[in-house]
Amino acid sequence: MVAINILLASLLITLTSAVPTRLNLNRRAGGPAAVPIPANCTVKNPLPTSTSPSTVAYAPAPSTTSAYVYSAYYYPFSTNQTALFTQCLEQCYGYGNKGECVAAYLASNVPAPPLFGSPGGQLETACLMYNRTLTPADFVVASPGTYTDARCGNIVC
Ligand SMILES: *[C@@H]1O[C@H](CO)[C@@H](O)[C@H](O)[C@H]1NC(C)=O
Ligand SMILES: *[C@@H]1O[C@H](CO)[C@@H](O)[C@H](O)[C@H]1NC(C)=O
Ligand SMILES: *[C@@H]1O[C@H](CO)[C@@H](O)[C@H](O)[C@H]1NC(C)=O
Repeated sequence: MVAINILLASLLITLTSAVPTRLNLNRRAGGPAAVPIPANCTVKNPLPTSTSPSTVAYAPAPSTTSAYVYSAYYYPFSTNQTALFTQCLEQCYGYGNKGECVAAYLASNVPAPPLFGSPGGQLETACLMYNRTLTPADFVVASPGTYTDARCGNIVC
């Protein structure tokens, strides 16, 4: 019984410690530093307007692929989407040389790409960064349940 408990305990430790390793914490920590956006820059939302935002979710269209500079997929560190988006915008602003990243997109339930031997497809929060400003034409309606609660901003300085 003791042995089983120890086995169970170590299994639990393995399971719980396996979660952070699969997170993109490393990528996030190693990702662009969040730099506050100066007051003389504006952040404008390019997402298409929708009469029913609660039922329509927008994903970046293939047209954005050529402008994509960085992505982070992770389990959200907060339930506050506004706080997550602020970090995403600030990481974009802090990416590379000033002006290299000018648009950031954050959504929940984004299918993750294959990574580190994982086949991908699991739904995670994603912060995607672009080196050109995005327009409403850069978005497509997402499959139900994916790309939920999306935020996007063009950083214009
Ligand atoms: C914006 O403000 C920053 C300091 O916060 C300054 O370094 C920069 O020159 C300003 N840019 C413009 C275009 O005024
Ligand atoms: C934007 O990033 C892509 C790589 O995703 C690169 O091929 C392209 O040259 C970059 N464009 C500009 C204007 O820097
Ligand atoms: C969410 O975060 C934003 C910005 O970080 C903050 O202003 C707001 O009060 C937070 N909302 C809640 C409900 O905590």
